[in-house]
Amino acid sequence: KIPNTYGAELLTWYDRHHRELPWRVSPSAAKAGKFANPYHIWLSEVMLQQTTVQAVKPYFAKFLALWPRVEDLAAAPADDVMAAWAGLGYYARARNLKKCAEAVARDHGGIFPDTEAGLKALPGIGDYTAAAVAAIAFNRQAAVMDGNVERVISRLFAIDGPLPGSKPLMKQKVAELTPADRPGDFAQAMMDLGATICTPKRPACALCPFNSRCLAFANDEPERFPVKAPK
Ligand code: ADE
Repeated sequence: KIPNTYGAELLTWYDRHHRELPWRVSPSAAKAGKFANPYHIWLSEVMLQQTTVQAVKPYFAKFLALWPRVEDLAAAPADDVMAAWAGLGYYARARNLKKCAEAVARDHGGIFPDTEAGLKALPGIGDYTAAAVAAIAFNRQAAVMDGNVERVISRLFAIDGPLPGSKPLMKQKVAELTPADRPGDFAQAMMDLGATICTPKRPACALCPFNSRCLAFANDEPERFPVKAPK
């Protein structure tokens, strides 16, 4: 088996350059076995699905001030939750948020399931959120893939097959690269790399920990990836 040096190199970069976000614990805390609060990770990941980090921050703070625990959110009047969500858009997310909080409170005693499969059985939790919460809050070796990660992976391996058909191949690559010891930090590092270095336009390849092994960079064509199927 080939040692996965990609994971180790990315984690060294993340230790130095990770973003400090209100729902995160530091890499040193995670290395010591202290992981983020599952309720915080779930709430932030649902908010982040169609919304930027900067826009999410004040809403995340407001929700925790109003509803510090998942049981508080479960017990809140639906109208209050919708009102607190106003401005974030994609309101189905807020309705699902409430349904999921109710299921965790009612069926799980307020404790989030700690596996990808257990999380996916909850209302409103799909592949992405289940993998993200399992990896980040429970340190499970789940392959987390969002638009940022698709961009990084498609460039690293110069994946020519267009999205969305190439997703299974990309997910397999992410699974192969995810290190067993720090899967949550690896997932967050891939997202940070995509958001801050491996950007859609004019990526900062000179600063990228993967630049010596990135096939798109070697061919001087990072912006060609990810390839998308014509509409
Ligand atoms: N975007 C969505 N989830 C994220 C996370 N956990 N870290 C950074 N960016 C994200």
